[in-house]
Amino acid sequence: MVSDNLIELKEISFSYPGGRKIFEDLSFNFPKGAKLGLIGANGSGKTTLLHLIMGLIQRSKGEIRLFGEPCEKESEFRKARLKIGFVFQDANDQLFCPTVKDDIAFGPLNMGRSQKETDKIVEETLELLNLMDFRDRVTYALSDGEKKLISIGTALAMLPEMLILDEPTTCLDENAVERVVQVLTDCNLPYLVVTHDKQFLERVVTSRVKLDNSTITRMPAY
Ligand SMILES: Nc1ncnc2c1ncn2[C@@H]1O[C@H](COP(=O)(O)OP(=O)(O)OP(=O)(O)O)[C@@H](O)[C@H]1O
Ligand SMILES: [Mg+2]
Repeated sequence: MVSDNLIELKEISFSYPGGRKIFEDLSFNFPKGAKLGLIGANGSGKTTLLHLIMGLIQRSKGEIRLFGEPCEKESEFRKARLKIGFVFQDANDQLFCPTVKDDIAFGPLNMGRSQKETDKIVEETLELLNLMDFRDRVTYALSDGEKKLISIGTALAMLPEMLILDEPTTCLDENAVERVVQVLTDCNLPYLVVTHDKQFLERVVTSRVKLDNSTITRMPAY
């Protein structure tokens, strides 16, 4: 049967090594085409949930299906990860190349695109985010807000089938938030966005869910 969900989590349990239980029997579906906000208190496990979906950490129990395919082994997650543009909460986890251009080129090159194709994607991505002047800047010397925008660029440059964004507006000024709203509105991709920024959320999502105590509940629509 073809699934109507891009992401399916069924009865997931997870604890960090030596830590308390973060999730017990957590289930969650992300439908095709959704523009969904995930909210919840600090420490409720939003980032942990996204890292489980991306296969960056492993559940102790339960099932994960991405794009309809069961994901258990690293190779299965790797295949799904190529289709998901992921923005880490901390941009320092995302950016590791010497220059902005290299960071944005990393995804497309890693996916086997040619240098020529990649160069074109880098230019288009920088233009989209109005970051042309940052092309040859040294990544580690950027401000936190600049790093966040470049992180979003690295996710978009993969030409993904969906986006997962963990706090995409932290450290961003008004103009930069506006640019991110515009990019999300125009990108024509489904996305799951975690944020504490209510104004931003209201503008970019069509539905919201809340994570609290291992349970995800649907919130009223705007
Ligand atoms: N690597 C880790 N090892 C042990 N515990 C961790 C680790 N990472 C997170 N935690 C704990 O897991 C819980 C959930 O953390 P998580 O970062 O997923 O929360 P969050 O909902 O994303 O919070 P925030 O809104 O502050 O970003 C917290 O209690 C946190 O202290
Ligand atoms: Mg978090």
